[in-house]
Amino acid sequence: MQVVQTGADWNKYWLEFIKNDKSIGLVPTMGALHEGHLDLIRKARLETDRVIVSIFVNPTQFNNQEDYDNYPSTLEQDLAKLKIENVDFVFIPNIDSIYPEKPKMNISFGKLETLLEGEFRPGHFNGVGLVVSKLFNIIKPHKAFFGQKDLQQTAIIKQLVKELSMEIHLEIVPTRREDDGLAMSSRNVRLSPEERRKALILYNSLTQAKQELLDGKQWFDVQNKIIQNFEEMPLVSLEYFELIHPESFMCYTDFDIDQKSSICVAAILGKIRLIDNLPIIP
Ligand code: PAJ
Repeated sequence: MQVVQTGADWNKYWLEFIKNDKSIGLVPTMGALHEGHLDLIRKARLETDRVIVSIFVNPTQFNNQEDYDNYPSTLEQDLAKLKIENVDFVFIPNIDSIYPEKPKMNISFGKLETLLEGEFRPGHFNGVGLVVSKLFNIIKPHKAFFGQKDLQQTAIIKQLVKELSMEIHLEIVPTRREDDGLAMSSRNVRLSPEERRKALILYNSLTQAKQELLDGKQWFDVQNKIIQNFEEMPLVSLEYFELIHPESFMCYTDFDIDQKSSICVAAILGKIRLIDNLPIIP
């Protein structure tokens, strides 16, 4: 496994792979790797000839400085996990090579960046769009792998690839969960034992709401009951619990079995913000 730090270093390998018709798979991450990340890497390993994982905690996508400052970093363990997965390359750029100066460009995503995550994390998707564009330009992969856990991020990146006519095939990998259902996340390690127990309310609410919708209940009633459950739970603060179209992210007011739909949730436990989602009709 090779560690590369600059685009120039990577280019030497890239040219050779292109000459020899090898396909390149990129898995962008911010490190603190868990099994969810490894699922993406395993899929890349199966589908492409050369797998490159990037580890870069991107400052421009954090709308909260404290969250950025406390983002977990476990580089040594990450590298050990990547070796076991037979990853070929790890791209670990330093911050100045990605942002030699404060970026002036702003990639906008229209309505999509104003809804749900966009509403609660202003500027977040502009930062994601910028760094993913940079990674795509530097690595020039054939395929890139993203998790369904960050559903709105996948919609943003699909829009990016389409509107900038990038020739990169996107693969979306299902959410990996702990045994009790909590979606794996790098931020879970920062939950206290009590917060960790309470965090289950996200997944439990999603599964309960899905079942009730499939049983024929009205979305308005389902949503209200869940909001009430959150209000009764101390230390947990709900940001949103919405039934949406998984590409446009427009909120539905009623459930329609013939329409693609997912339920999305975001909540804050102590100082940790968690998100999750569940498709009802994929
Ligand atoms: P990060 O949170 O490190 O996640 C890297 C990738 O792993 C993302 O595509 C994310 O959706 C996926 N992932 C995270 N948890 C997962 C889980 N439980 N199951 C399946 N996949 C999961 O997302 C980012 O980093 C950044 O925004 C990034 C795209 C790297 C740009 O900076």
